[in-house]
Amino acid sequence: MTETRPAWGEPLQIGSVTISGRAVFAPMAGVSDLTFRLLCKEQGAALVCMEMISAKAIVYGNRRTRELWETDPAEAPVSLQLFGHEPEVFAEACGIIEKERFDILDINMGCPVPKVTGNHEGSALMKDPALIEKIVRACVEHSSRPVTVKIRKGFDEEHLNAVECALAAQEGGASAVAVHGRTRAQMYSGQADWTCIAAVKEALRIPVIGNGDVTGAESALRMMEETGCDAVMAARAARGNPWIFREIDAALKGKPVPERPVRKEVIRMLLRHADMLCRQKGETIGMRQMRGHAASYLSGFPGAARVRGKINRVNTLEDLEQLMSKEYPYA
Ligand SMILES: Cc1cc2nc3c(=O)[nH]c(=O)nc-3n(C[C@H](O)[C@H](O)[C@H](O)COP(=O)(O)O)c2cc1C
Repeated sequence: MTETRPAWGEPLQIGSVTISGRAVFAPMAGVSDLTFRLLCKEQGAALVCMEMISAKAIVYGNRRTRELWETDPAEAPVSLQLFGHEPEVFAEACGIIEKERFDILDINMGCPVPKVTGNHEGSALMKDPALIEKIVRACVEHSSRPVTVKIRKGFDEEHLNAVECALAAQEGGASAVAVHGRTRAQMYSGQADWTCIAAVKEALRIPVIGNGDVTGAESALRMMEETGCDAVMAARAARGNPWIFREIDAALKGKPVPERPVRKEVIRMLLRHADMLCRQKGETIGMRQMRGHAASYLSGFPGAARVRGKINRVNTLEDLEQLMSKEYPYA
C-alpha cells in the first residue's frame, strides 16, 4: 500500500475557498444533479461539481438552464461549470449568476461531444491557449468566485498541450486546474495517462486536480503518489457508488478504508436517492431520471439486466419500493 503524505489529510485551498479533503466529485451531465451531489457530499466528497451549463443559454435567459444551477447549502462548497467560447459571453453570464449560491466557477475545456466542439467549445478551446487565457481573465474579472478550468491531456495525439493550456489558465488568473488524462480524440476510451497530470503539476503554482480512472481508494492513492496532484476527481466510478468518496477520503487521510456497502445498503441508498429526487423534481420527472441511477446502483447484482428492464416501466416511488422488495427481499 502507498504511504500517505501528511498534506493529503489537510484541507485544500482553491482561491478563497477551502475544501475539507482531497476527493472531488466530477461534473457529469445527466448524473451530477443536486440530489446525487448531496449524496456524494454526505459520503465524503470535499467538493462537488454541477453539470455543465451553457454560458450563452444563461445570457439568453433559458428557463431550463436555471434548474441546473439550483444548489443546497448542505452541498457547499459546490462548483458551477460553464461552457462556451466567447470571453464577452462568459463575462455577461458571470454577472447574471453572481447572486446565485455557488462557491467556485469552473470552465469546461474537456467536453468531447461534436455538438459542443463543433461550436469551438469544450475541449476545442484547447486548440487556442491564448483564448483560454482571455476566457479565464474575463471570468476572473466578472465573478467574485475563484475560477478553475477542467482540461484534457490535449485535443488529439498530435496536440498534447495540457501544460500550455494550464499555464494559460494560470496566467489568466485561474485558482486551480483539473486535468483529465485522455485526449478529446479518445473520448472516454482507453486508459487515462496520468503523466500529463504530473507534468501540469510540475509546471503550475496553483493546485492541480487529477482525473481519469480513479475507481476507489487504491487508485486515488496511486494517482496522488504518481502525479503529485493536490486532489483527485472521480466521475464514472461514482455512478451508483457515492461510497467511493468515503473510501478515498479515508485512504488519503491515512484512516482505515470502509468496506464496500453490502447489497442491503445499496438498495436502501437507491430508494433514498429516488425519494430525494422525486421530492426535488416531482414524481414523474424524478422516477424517469432515476432509471439511469438505479441501473448503476444495481450493477453486479444478480438478475440486474432483467430488473433494470422492469425499473424502466415503473412510474411511482411506491412501485419502485415494491419491485425492490420483491426482487431483492434480503435487502
Ligand atoms: C456521462 C458523463 C457526463 C459528463 N459530463 C461532463 C460535464 O458536464 N463536464 C465536464 O467537465 N466533464 C464531464 N464528463 C467528464 C468527467 O467529468 C470526467 O472527466 C471523465 O469521465 C473521466 O473521469 P473518470 O475516469 O473518473 O470517469 C462527463 C463524463 C461522463 C461519463
